[in-house]
Amino acid sequence: MSIQGKDYVTITDHSTGQSMDLPILRGTDGVPVIDINQLRKKMNLYTFDPGFVSTAACESKITFIDGEEGRLLFRGYPIEELAEHSSFLEVCYLLLYGELPTEGEYDKFRDLITHHTLLHEGLREFYKGFRRDAHPMAIMVGILGAMSAFYHDSLDISDPNSREVSAHRLIAKIPTIAAWAYRYSKGEPFPYPRNELGYASNFLHMMFSYPTEPYAINSIAAKAMDLLFLLHADHGQNASASTIRLAGSSKANPFACISASVGTLWGPAHGGANEAVIKMLADIGSTKNIAKALERAKDKDDPFRLMGFGHRVYKNYDPRAKLMRNMCQQVLEDLQVDDPLLEVAEALEEAALQDEYFASRRLFPNVDFYSGIVLRALGIPTNMFTVIFTMGRSVGWISQWNEMINAERVRIGRPSQLYTGPAQRAYVPIEQRK
Ligand code: SDX
Repeated sequence: MSIQGKDYVTITDHSTGQSMDLPILRGTDGVPVIDINQLRKKMNLYTFDPGFVSTAACESKITFIDGEEGRLLFRGYPIEELAEHSSFLEVCYLLLYGELPTEGEYDKFRDLITHHTLLHEGLREFYKGFRRDAHPMAIMVGILGAMSAFYHDSLDISDPNSREVSAHRLIAKIPTIAAWAYRYSKGEPFPYPRNELGYASNFLHMMFSYPTEPYAINSIAAKAMDLLFLLHADHGQNASASTIRLAGSSKANPFACISASVGTLWGPAHGGANEAVIKMLADIGSTKNIAKALERAKDKDDPFRLMGFGHRVYKNYDPRAKLMRNMCQQVLEDLQVDDPLLEVAEALEEAALQDEYFASRRLFPNVDFYSGIVLRALGIPTNMFTVIFTMGRSVGWISQWNEMINAERVRIGRPSQLYTGPAQRAYVPIEQRK
């Protein structure tokens, strides 16, 4: 990158007296970056940034997050407008192709996805290798990775058509894979997808229908499920998206890379937080225990943290959490569900937002704080919450992966380190060791 005008910083290594100008690159919006690509070559220096607190690892056109203002854009469209006017499948098209589809493009895309929902029958057998009490996320890691053992005709990452087929297969099959993970854990039959149903309705059908009687799709539940998928669809360079970029940079096949991202999302610091929030709210149990919970969350000697609170990027209210909170109140009212955890959650949020510890660190509710209460109202079991997150986020992962593979030059991700281990030393034979 060449330096434009005053768009550069000069760094000086005072231990050697060496200096160099580093270009500042500015995007469409957001924090500018310093291009340090030549730093190692010209100054024999690396940057050091564990956890990537001040590091932009890539260029992307997919999602923009303004953490200060609490803004989230998918391909430039505010999440609030997409939540109000769009659908998950339309957002899948937007994230994958960069533009909202015309009616004809949408119909073709929906038809493609609808006709990819079945799983290879060999994959049905695959479930039987898991224990009944396996966590559904363990099954998701296994089955999604195993797709590379069944769909050989769409693994050529150098072929754009092959990449597109893999993306369609992933979006189409993940509701089937997820629902069957749940049914397997209950020892129940695996309902096949039904092509006349919409994306979220089909998932609810595969989760809750029985071959012995008709199953009526609840339109409120289907709408809420669709919005939950939409709100989780992508979120820039979060841990699991960074995973797929790193895994994909080795030119591994897309399903192996997706499986790696599922593993990353599973952690309670990331997508696993939605399951942890419900456990936390249930442990708190009543609004009477909120003050104690806040004290524990502030106590550095106590591993307890307020799950569903705080975010590396948002230093304001996560816009998804706002939409999730409104959806929560609406769905519980429409479905006439009275969940005592909602009262605990709202009281906990109010107390935390007024607490100096949280306010000074700009800790707000994130996407995971209210999502679990909506999922409970829809009858989704707690151990399936991160699976739901996986279902929504898969299109984000495959879009980030495709953007990277499609880039002018794909270099394998290979960060360096600050080595603080032992200096070189000679081997000591065992008889001489003390
Ligand atoms: C997701 O990256 C993404 O975009 C992720 C995500 C997505 O869509 O992909 O948005 C989804 O993962 C949301 C986050 C879900 N995780 C949780 O809700 C778990 C609880 N949150 C924390 O673990 C934490 O806030 C993180 C992991 C989310 C962010 O961690 P950071 O940015 O590394 O912040 P930090 O741990 O350095 O915290 C800064 C300070 C620390 O205190 P001090 O050292 O300054 O005294 O804030 C404190 C932390 O102790 N803190 C918390 C807290 N979160 C941060 N204290 C109590 N409870 C919390 N939840």
